[in-house]
Amino acid sequence: QNVVKIGVAGLGTVGAGTVKLLSEHRDNLTDRSGSPMIVTAVSARDRTRDRGFSTDGLTWYEDARDMAQDANVDVIVETIGGSDGIAYELCKTALEAGKHVVTANKALIALHGVELARIADANNVTIAYEAAVAGGVPVIKALREGLSGNVVSRVTGILNGTCNYILTTMREQGRDFADVLAEAQKLGYAEADPSFDVDGIDAAHKLAILTSLAFGVEVDFDAIAVEGIRSVSALDIQMAEELGYRIKLLGIAKQTPEGIEQRVSPVLVDRNTQISKVEGVFNAVALEGDYVGPVILQGRGAGERPTASAVVADLVDIAAGRKTPVFGVAAERLKKNVRAPIEKH
Ligand code: NDP
Ligand code: HSE
Repeated sequence: QNVVKIGVAGLGTVGAGTVKLLSEHRDNLTDRSGSPMIVTAVSARDRTRDRGFSTDGLTWYEDARDMAQDANVDVIVETIGGSDGIAYELCKTALEAGKHVVTANKALIALHGVELARIADANNVTIAYEAAVAGGVPVIKALREGLSGNVVSRVTGILNGTCNYILTTMREQGRDFADVLAEAQKLGYAEADPSFDVDGIDAAHKLAILTSLAFGVEVDFDAIAVEGIRSVSALDIQMAEELGYRIKLLGIAKQTPEGIEQRVSPVLVDRNTQISKVEGVFNAVALEGDYVGPVILQGRGAGERPTASAVVADLVDIAAGRKTPVFGVAAERLKKNVRAPIEKH
């Protein structure tokens, strides 16, 4: 049995959760992948902080980027965050050095995914990102592998757990926006800069990735019309409820005769629909394929355990030697994203 050696860069909510899952389910994971997976190296900023597991015997990197050259690491798990800087440099140099990368970083994939996919293809490795969209909900694999026989016409999603948690809690408990946001931060749901959540940018990163997978086009984050939930008041939520609606931050991508329209915005959703009942930190993605028809996936979209679940699913694929093109088709076969004009509401 080949041992797969893993370096984890970033030991916060997602990184620490991943190390714990790998340890708790070690035997089961070896059965599933055929290869034992062990963590050999880690990196974070503060070496003294308790991570909930022992780092004894692990190589500690002050500069995470040095992990890319570690001969005792086969796969890098990048859970630092940020579209540029350390996360980007680490992932790029690791792929160039022939190491697989698993990341939860949607900003990175939305802005540099195609470039990184090309580097991965050239070096016969992969960059996997199941955790980057909808936390523990396996929507990347569903779109890329499970629905690959379909022509997809539309993707609709509740893609940000923090916003859905805020909107749900404001409605159910009549609490204040800032108060619920602080709670979402404490629960480990929010981004390091929570304006990415509440201004719709995080949902747009995720939508851009889903659009690429659904329509076989290059990721085009700049094409998305983005509006967040800052302007949604408690009164709006209450009025919507009285009229039989819920307010949801939705990401919608659809094929139109002019091209692909991508939008993230708060939407009034009929209270009798399935998507309106997706509450709290849960995310949902509804897809429409020409052969399969409608498909809806839902589950926890953020938090330590659900996100670790998705990271480890990618690690199992790599350990088992399963390799799928990063965006479903080889990077050079991705089409240009033709943008449809965005209609005003
Ligand atoms: P956290 O802020 O909890 O963790 C970030 C980690 O990165 C910390 O351990 C931090 O170190 C470390 N770090 C920061 N800068 C550096 C650096 N320069 N070198 C090495 N380590 C560094 O973030 P999350 O775990 O919440 O998120 C990580 C990634 O996962 C992000 O891309 C996020 O978007 C994504 N994600 C998060 C989800 C969630 O529910 N939280 C869900 C899905 C994806 P230290 O601890 O010492 O400060
Ligand atoms: N901040 C993100 C969210 C984390 O709340 O959905 C999961 O990607």
